[in-house]
Amino acid sequence: MDFIKRILLILIATVISISAAENKTSIQLPSPETKGKISVEESLAKRRSVRNYQNIPLSIKELSQILWAAQGITAKWGGRTAPSAGATYPLEIYVAVGRVERIEPGLYHYIPSSHELDSVLKGDIRDKLCAACLGQQSVKKAPVIIIIAANFSRTEKRYRERATQYVYIEAGHAGQNIYLQAESLGLGTVAIGAFDENQLKELLKINEQVVYIMPVGKK
Ligand SMILES: Cc1cc2nc3c(=O)[nH]c(=O)nc-3n(C[C@H](O)[C@H](O)[C@H](O)COP(=O)(O)O)c2cc1C
Repeated sequence: MDFIKRILLILIATVISISAAENKTSIQLPSPETKGKISVEESLAKRRSVRNYQNIPLSIKELSQILWAAQGITAKWGGRTAPSAGATYPLEIYVAVGRVERIEPGLYHYIPSSHELDSVLKGDIRDKLCAACLGQQSVKKAPVIIIIAANFSRTEKRYRERATQYVYIEAGHAGQNIYLQAESLGLGTVAIGAFDENQLKELLKINEQVVYIMPVGKK
């Protein structure tokens, strides 16, 4: 009888682990490129805020490159594409996917260490995001919207009252990286600072505070 019980328990454990694996909601992104088609100088010269996008999806490769530019890992010790005060790394990048090849619409969290996306919310939230950004149509029209959020306490632990300005400065670095990477890929973006924080908190249900929002799409 004990033997049968043990077999049954093993079977149940196997079924649970298989279904957990099937429900795995992480998406491995393709490796980023470190060589582009245009120079940094050309990207700087051509960069402009773009608020209208073609009605076509982004490829997973393009999204991967944009996320890497924002906060990707570039050093064995964990150094990233953007500088960070005392390497405290307070920024967390989220992406609202509307239309990206091979990725279901939803809200995802970018994990720099593994270059993966973790699913946070299922379904297209662009209309609601647009409303939280005071009805700005660039947010509704873009196939993806990058959300730069911050955990201020990580930087406050070391820099106390200097931390707030450091975190906002870092968001600026990440934002400019996204602008330049978008330009290099023939994509357009705009930095959005006008939004209702409470509405965003309600919608995204994330622990960090939203600092910047950047819709990205084909120019
Ligand atoms: C902190 C900040 C907040 C901004 N907020 C918005 C915004 O809410 N909506 C928008 O369309 N553009 C926004 N912009 C983009 C500016 O309007 C744009 O950078 C400016 O007009 C200069 O144009 P350029 O980026 O093409 O050089 C913001 C830019 C910054 C730096």
